[in-house]
Amino acid sequence: MIIDYLANQKHFIPEIADLIFNQWSDLFLADSIGKDQLLSILEVRANTERLPITLVAVLDGELLGTGSIKLEEPGTKIGLSPWLAGIYVKEPYRARGVGAQIVRTLEATARDLGVHTMYLSVGSAVGFYVQLGWSVMEERIDSFGVKEVTLMSKRLSVAP
Ligand SMILES: CC(C)(COP(=O)(O)OP(=O)(O)OC[C@H]1O[C@@H](n2cnc3c(N)ncnc32)[C@H](O)[C@@H]1OP(=O)(O)O)[C@@H](O)C(=O)NCCC(=O)NCCS
Repeated sequence: MIIDYLANQKHFIPEIADLIFNQWSDLFLADSIGKDQLLSILEVRANTERLPITLVAVLDGELLGTGSIKLEEPGTKIGLSPWLAGIYVKEPYRARGVGAQIVRTLEATARDLGVHTMYLSVGSAVGFYVQLGWSVMEERIDSFGVKEVTLMSKRLSVAP
């Protein structure tokens, strides 16, 4: 398996849009984002040296999973940035470490771009991020009035 920039694998954009729209349709619709707009958002994340950025996990030409770093999370907290987002592994490939590898690679990517602290909001998968060293900041935060989420953060670099 390789973890690559979406920028090098843009043919996966329609598949990723389908997967993450189906997973989080309640939040996207509450934010007035349809699938067409999600395609544009992913195009904007097809960067290699600046944020926002999306990575893909690929094996033998098949997409296994994806994850992004985005600049804003309008549904929960404004003023914090950047955010880990859209971490998704296709069902047949779960529980094999793919999700953890995507998150670790995104963290390293952010650190290389000078990010000190990263944030995320999550529904039920809090334990997944705790295992990866993330800390809970706030629980039961309202997200767009459709869901309660947990706000988490991780410091990526040691203070001098
Ligand atoms: C959450 C998700 C990304 C995990 O991907 P994955 O490839 O199955 O995860 P990994 O195999 O790397 O798991 C790493 C560890 O986290 C644990 N874990 C995985 N999913 C978990 C969850 N939902 N809750 C708590 N722990 C979880 C695993 O048990 C594993 O622990 P172990 O190393 O002790 O066995 C995947 O289940 C998914 O795409 N879910 C739907 C979308 C989603 O919920 N995304 C995350 C929220 S933003």
